[in-house]
Amino acid sequence: MTKGRVLSGMRPSGKLHLGNFSGALENWKRLQEEYESFFFVADWHALSTDYAKTANLRDYIYQMLVDWLSAGLNPEKCTIFIQSHVPEHAELHILFSMITPIPWLERVPTYKEQQQELKDRDLSTYGFLGYPLLQAADILVYKADFVPVGIDQLPHLELTREVARRFNFLYKEVFPEPQPLLTDFPKIPGTDGRKMSKSYNNAIYLADTREEVWEKLRTMVTDPKRIRRTDPGDPEVCPVFSLHRVYSSQEIIQQVDGGCRTAGIGCIECKKWLNNALTEKLDPIRDKRSQLINNSSMVKGVVESGAKKAREVASSVLEEARAAIGL
Ligand code: TRP
Ligand code: SF4
Repeated sequence: MTKGRVLSGMRPSGKLHLGNFSGALENWKRLQEEYESFFFVADWHALSTDYAKTANLRDYIYQMLVDWLSAGLNPEKCTIFIQSHVPEHAELHILFSMITPIPWLERVPTYKEQQQELKDRDLSTYGFLGYPLLQAADILVYKADFVPVGIDQLPHLELTREVARRFNFLYKEVFPEPQPLLTDFPKIPGTDGRKMSKSYNNAIYLADTREEVWEKLRTMVTDPKRIRRTDPGDPEVCPVFSLHRVYSSQEIIQQVDGGCRTAGIGCIECKKWLNNALTEKLDPIRDKRSQLINNSSMVKGVVESGAKKAREVASSVLEEARAAIGL
């Protein structure tokens, strides 16, 4: 018996960095132990903003799957698949599109925000406006009970619940209202101190070699007021310390905290300790990654059987939905 059904997805952005790993993947790994879990690569979602540049899409999907598996998502314990392999998501999306007022979509905060942010692209498309509804279909086509997401995704969850209620009200009680599963995890800063993000060019990747990780740490931003080795520093404003908090032992964290404030340690020493913690964490992932990266038949096998399992659930929910409508 499990505690219910969990579903989550990630856009295929290529190799995963520590932010994706600690913010989402580590949580998914825990969930696969206790819930009936579905995790998918949201490749249609990628098209909603990147429809004009798809040359890397296949590689991105593959890299992300390799990272998921290397980091410990276990296809024996959870269902791993690619969104576009399960056409039921699209069918439910079209049914929902018939009952969803356009203003519900226009008032999703990411709609206007992303249009502002990504000014280099034309996001006045039908698909971009509708992608939160596609997300609602992703979730409800499995009647998921829980959806682990970041706080930025809460409006999408709210829309999902509204759509479920509207469907149930118009036709028949088919869809449960899913709940978000928020894990409050500290933000993972990148090497420049801003939020770690592929687009900021400040990320440490699961696929980085030991040497690459050390080079990134070595040149990472520290407390800007700590200029000389003899200057005391303030760990609270230092992004290196934020990473210690996540990856180092309690003992090392204490040592850094004290040593930094009293100028007892230097920043390079401090970064070496962090490097040790990261090496310990990442080495086993790297090992698995190097095995998997050239084993595309294994990865293909995972997503093929994943799609099959996903479709079993999705197609029966679709049957209920069609019947409720009277199709
Ligand atoms: N929109 C999510 C993101 O950008 C990805 C996603 C798509 C998703 N469909 C989902 C997340 C369904 C949870 C459930 O991160
Ligand atoms: Fe940051 Fe460590 Fe240097 Fe203190 S000693 S400023 S915590 S890198």
